[in-house]
Amino acid sequence: MSTRILAHRGASAYAPENTIPAFELALEQETDGFELDVHLSKDGELIVMHDERIDRTTNGQGFIKDYTLEELRAFDASCGKDGYRGTTIPTLAEVYSLVRGTDKIVNVEIKTDIIVYPNICGKLLALEDAMGMNGRVIYSSFNHYTVCEMLKARPDAKVGLLYMSMIVSPWDYARGLRASCLHPHFITLSNTPNMAEECRKLGIETNVWTVDDPEWMERLMKMGVTSLITDKPDLARTVVFGK
Ligand code: G3P
Ligand code: CA
Repeated sequence: MSTRILAHRGASAYAPENTIPAFELALEQETDGFELDVHLSKDGELIVMHDERIDRTTNGQGFIKDYTLEELRAFDASCGKDGYRGTTIPTLAEVYSLVRGTDKIVNVEIKTDIIVYPNICGKLLALEDAMGMNGRVIYSSFNHYTVCEMLKARPDAKVGLLYMSMIVSPWDYARGLRASCLHPHFITLSNTPNMAEECRKLGIETNVWTVDDPEWMERLMKMGVTSLITDKPDLARTVVFGK
């Protein structure tokens, strides 16, 4: 099986991160799926954005949790990218609408490492069911308690443990928590070049981020990782398929 390509925040090297244009561009670039980040708004809607605050990527200020969805919709999320003025902040439901009739994968990073949003796991599972996304969502988080909570709510959920520290034998850690995927920063594989092989023996996926350097893409592909999570899905395609 060839290395899977997941567009990090969409094709975010070229279009405003975590917006519909970035996800549409990734689809045009024939990505296998997306990685995106979710938070909850003041009125409990699943909002797609990286930071807890809207300051860096929109023309507004403040925390997502302090705005309703309607209020968030008024901001421009073009993130300084030319040609994208008027782009709005998407909900997760809107992103799912783009891919619900396809076989594309969505890696939902649950951003509970700073703010623990009440019942975010329950809301995510309800949306997955309502939109027929079952089997095509990978839930990941740097907050491994959130990953455990997701598994408690749905034992067969596909879940990934995000990390960027040099964990010894991370596959043993994943097995202990019954997590089906490991999501390491690519640099950690310098210490664990056997990682993909060890994980494959245990049926654990290795979805590595954020890889934009073609030499690293090639190296990781040769190690046998499951997915390259990249801001440049077009470049990853040239590395993986040679075109
Ligand atoms: O999910 C991989 C990667 O997105 C984690 O880091 O900060 O880009 O969300 P960050
Ligand atoms: Ca992320």
